[in-house]
Amino acid sequence: MIRPPLAGRSGLPAVPGPEAAPGPGAVPGPGAMPGLPGLPEVVSRTGQFPRLRYMGSKYRLIPHLARAFTELGGAAALDAFSGSGVVSYLLKTCGYQVTANDFLTFPAIIARASVVNQAVTLSAGDIATICGPPADDRDFIGRTFGGIYFTDADLQFLDSAWSHIDRMEGHKQALAISALVLSAARRQPRGVFTVTGLRYDDGRRDLRLPLRDHFAERAAEYNRVIFDSGQRCAATSCDVFDLPRAGYDVVYLDPPYAPPRDDNCYIKRYTPFSYKHTVTAALRRAIRQFADSALVLSYSSNAVPDAATIEGLLREVKRDVEVRAVDHTYAFGTHQAARRRTAREYLFIAR
Ligand SMILES: C[S@@+](CC[C@H](N)C(=O)[O-])C[C@H]1O[C@@H](n2cnc3c(N)ncnc32)[C@H](O)[C@@H]1O
Repeated sequence: MIRPPLAGRSGLPAVPGPEAAPGPGAVPGPGAMPGLPGLPEVVSRTGQFPRLRYMGSKYRLIPHLARAFTELGGAAALDAFSGSGVVSYLLKTCGYQVTANDFLTFPAIIARASVVNQAVTLSAGDIATICGPPADDRDFIGRTFGGIYFTDADLQFLDSAWSHIDRMEGHKQALAISALVLSAARRQPRGVFTVTGLRYDDGRRDLRLPLRDHFAERAAEYNRVIFDSGQRCAATSCDVFDLPRAGYDVVYLDPPYAPPRDDNCYIKRYTPFSYKHTVTAALRRAIRQFADSALVLSYSSNAVPDAATIEGLLREVKRDVEVRAVDHTYAFGTHQAARRRTAREYLFIAR
């Protein structure tokens, strides 16, 4: 199905959702295009997507991205750097045939579970089996991560859960792995594994809940967002530069941000988008690769290069380039003493 652009850019009501969107108005609601959801429904459905604390994830930009995608229309969309999967899920909710891609494996598994999968859920029996006695005596996780992450009981649960998940297949297995990833990230301070031990434990329920209990809750969260969009979707796991150049009406580019100073981002050595010396050439190459599609690119004001440079790169291949700025404040740190910083997120829309 070809989805036509839903709206013009002004004089319409504001976008609903977790964060009010500034600037131009929203698109007409359901009924504007029979069979396709309107913007409020798209934003509210995507708001249910399980929240994985992942570097650069775009949960807070959903209303803005939803508006951009529904304005652009088209049938096929690529999310080239899918991460937590929330934007791929948004594109599915908008009615696109989605290809979700990320060079890491776990984002492809999350996208397979929540975007490609249109019907399968984990049954109460599946969850009980994974949370029950182990299917074999494996202990790799317990032996390797004892005293570093989690409690001994959590590590035993992970080995035991894997003894069952290894015997599953297809979308069920992808759902189980996604729920396990989400459980581990929620149980871990700041959702990152550069922190060890319990020194950041501030008593939050998520940091106290045993992984086994997390798993049952997180599996239910993924189960709740499974729906049939009627559009075939795909999940791939490759370098962005190995993806086909054509075949998408809309391409969303959300590469890692290159910081002005070195940071401890653990994947940076594997990607030219993370270094200030290589990021501009990498962005130019990606933009040229997908020059035949409408492009939506998000980038942060705390990163290199600046917005004017990115706009210039887009203008090398596109005539119509719009820049929307979204201000937000984010917590920097782990507890009450956390500092708050303001940043500006740019959304570039190039047709
Ligand atoms: C800013 S995050 C994307 C966040 C995602 N939009 C979300 O909302 O969760 C950037 C992602 O790009 C992936 N990545 C980095 N370099 C890549 C490359 N060369 N090819 C494909 N994926 C890459 C990383 O693994 C990471 O998941």
